[in-house]
Amino acid sequence: MRDIKTPIPLLPPDLKKVETTAILRKEAKARATLAELKGFAPTIPNQNILINAIALQEAKESSAIENIVTTQDELYKNLTIKSSAMDSSAKEVINYREAVYKGCDIIKMRRLISVSDVIKIQETIIKNNAGIRKLPGTSLVNSATNEIVYTPPQDYRELCYLLDNFCTYLNDDEDSLWKMAVLHYQFETIHPFYDGNGRTGRILNILYLLLKKHIDTPILYLSSYIIKNKSEYYTLLQEVRETNVWENWCFFILEGIEETAKQTLEKVKSIKDLLELTLEKVKEHCPKIYSKELVEIIFENPYSKIDFVVNKLDINRKTASKYLKELEENNFLSPLRVGKEIIYINSHLMEMLKK
Ligand SMILES: Nc1ncnc2c1ncn2[C@@H]1O[C@H](COP(=O)(O)OP(=O)(O)O)[C@@H](O)[C@H]1O
Ligand SMILES: [Mg+2]
Repeated sequence: MRDIKTPIPLLPPDLKKVETTAILRKEAKARATLAELKGFAPTIPNQNILINAIALQEAKESSAIENIVTTQDELYKNLTIKSSAMDSSAKEVINYREAVYKGCDIIKMRRLISVSDVIKIQETIIKNNAGIRKLPGTSLVNSATNEIVYTPPQDYRELCYLLDNFCTYLNDDEDSLWKMAVLHYQFETIHPFYDGNGRTGRILNILYLLLKKHIDTPILYLSSYIIKNKSEYYTLLQEVRETNVWENWCFFILEGIEETAKQTLEKVKSIKDLLELTLEKVKEHCPKIYSKELVEIIFENPYSKIDFVVNKLDINRKTASKYLKELEENNFLSPLRVGKEIIYINSHLMEMLKK
């Protein structure tokens, strides 16, 4: 593929242009905050509680950036029903979380991300196998004015070449946090797919953090920060392209990492407190049915149903139903009828997650 010409600068970027004093200072701060989160997260005994809740929230927010809008309650409700019966936005968000999990498995198994992994992740979100763009016509427009702001490469071989260069750089030894900003810019600039580029790019961000061990579980995501600073996100992406200056963009992403790591740490702490309090109280008020695993079920699944308890505790439906009813009677859960079934909501956790 050596002979391919492309106007897009290849990676790595010129270090002198990226590692400015301001960026290195911000990098140190972001690293320290992220390390604190990394250190605290394992104090929650069942990591699925964190991963499920935080990854679903990110799936919702990352999809919202692309105008796929749903609510936490809708999502959790849809998680209790068959995929064929799901609402279409909820389903797309749930696909996004599945893509995050798939990416995490790839990192765990191979500690490397290949071009075909990137394609797999995009396919999991979009649920079609169009793959890398082969037909021309894709451009990025300003949604307010409808004016074209950027036309990414249209040639299939050029896209493959650029993606290959992207993955080589992603996997190399450089492990800074500013590199995540560079990678995200490059991925969005290559824009290899007809759709799902924003979401795939944001999943690649967390996979990069996992790959370089900045975090051990997929719990740090920037979408809420991006939503809050949406116009800056678009403006700065465009600025790198037009001025070839990395500083503002990298600073913006590093600030996002720092701010989000702080918020996530607070969230993890509140989840931990609520879990400990609930364990204590269930033990006190429902001693006959109490087990650590039962309480963990209603934290792993803020919307629980009998099947979840049957499968996890390996007990029969009648007993599982009795357990959930007793938790409901003691105000640990609130019931909701969905079709023929009763779903049990951990409202205390839901309220906390929505904050
Ligand atoms: N000027 C720009 N330059 C580079 N990337 C951009 C620019 N404007 C938007 N983007 C990226 O394109 C994404 C949208 O692309 P799209 O394929 O529609 O993603 P998705 O399907 O996930 O909606 C945005 O989230 C952003 O990351
Ligand atoms: Mg889109």
